[in-house]
Amino acid sequence: MTEKEDGICPFRPPITNVGNDGGESDGGAARQSCPVANSNGVDYDAAAMRKTPRTSSKTGSSRRHGLFITFEGIEGSGKSTQAHALARALRAKGLWVIETREPGGTPVAERIREVFLTPGRARRATDPLTPECEVALILAARSQHVARLLPALRQGAVVVCDRFSDSTLAYQGFGRGVPLPGLRRLVRWATRGLTPDVTFFFDLPVAQGLRRRLRAKDTDRMDREPPAFHQRVRKGFLTLARRHARRIHTINAEQPARVISRRLLTLLDPVLTEERRARRRIIKRV
Ligand SMILES: Nc1ncnc2c1ncn2[C@@H]1O[C@H](COP(=O)(O)OP(=O)(O)OP(=O)(O)O)[C@@H](O)[C@H]1O
Ligand SMILES: [Mg+2]
Repeated sequence: MTEKEDGICPFRPPITNVGNDGGESDGGAARQSCPVANSNGVDYDAAAMRKTPRTSSKTGSSRRHGLFITFEGIEGSGKSTQAHALARALRAKGLWVIETREPGGTPVAERIREVFLTPGRARRATDPLTPECEVALILAARSQHVARLLPALRQGAVVVCDRFSDSTLAYQGFGRGVPLPGLRRLVRWATRGLTPDVTFFFDLPVAQGLRRRLRAKDTDRMDREPPAFHQRVRKGFLTLARRHARRIHTINAEQPARVISRRLLTLLDPVLTEERRARRRIIKRV
């Protein structure tokens, strides 16, 4: 997959009129997008609605002002559905939103995604991916992705990301049995310490998630793993959610999609309110 030559890269900030407003507004620039991650026919585009300075948080290798929101959970738990809905809702509030996914989010990372997720009949029989190879592929893709996310976050983007590091710990750590301490160190190295500000973990019984996936009919290599594997992954997510209770919000994914979308906005409200306050403080200072 290649980036559209005539498009605007989603990781570029919106075109900004740098005037005496401290570069805070682009005066309502038009939406611009560049599909970088659409191998499933999905546009992971960035709406360049408005550049908004945000509360700074120290969750990357350097101080940043954006907001990094990740979606986690087993197959078919509704991550992509909710990520699209949230990105739409936040754009409607006038925020600069980058919607992206893992593995993927850059052209190189999307190619790695294909190797990672495509079963390939011959490969499955004769050359299955080892757990270590899975880790190496995922982290190679993540490193490319993070290199693009960090500048956008520094400039105030809201990044909505379908899967991130918690999936690596849940799938390769709890699911495949890769020892967690070493895996955590590798993840920190590949991400340069970038950690989400907020994570939504969509929890539902494995059988229900897999039923939803089968109904959707576009199954991939991970969907076809045995239920026992997905049970370990779910247990892994539940363990991570207990361990990082302040960052990870567990969402009952059996609820109707519209109810879940409203809940996510409610949970984000305090974060967005604080961001608006911070923005007013910044405007007063300039
Ligand atoms: N709350 C819900 N209730 C019922 N069905 C849902 C709900 N949310 C999503 N679905 C449906 O379940 C299927 C899987 O949803 P979705 O693709 O969002 O899950 P996912 O977590 O992104 O899956 P994957 O991990 O395989 O990418 C889709 O057909 C979607 O329409
Ligand atoms: Mg999905």
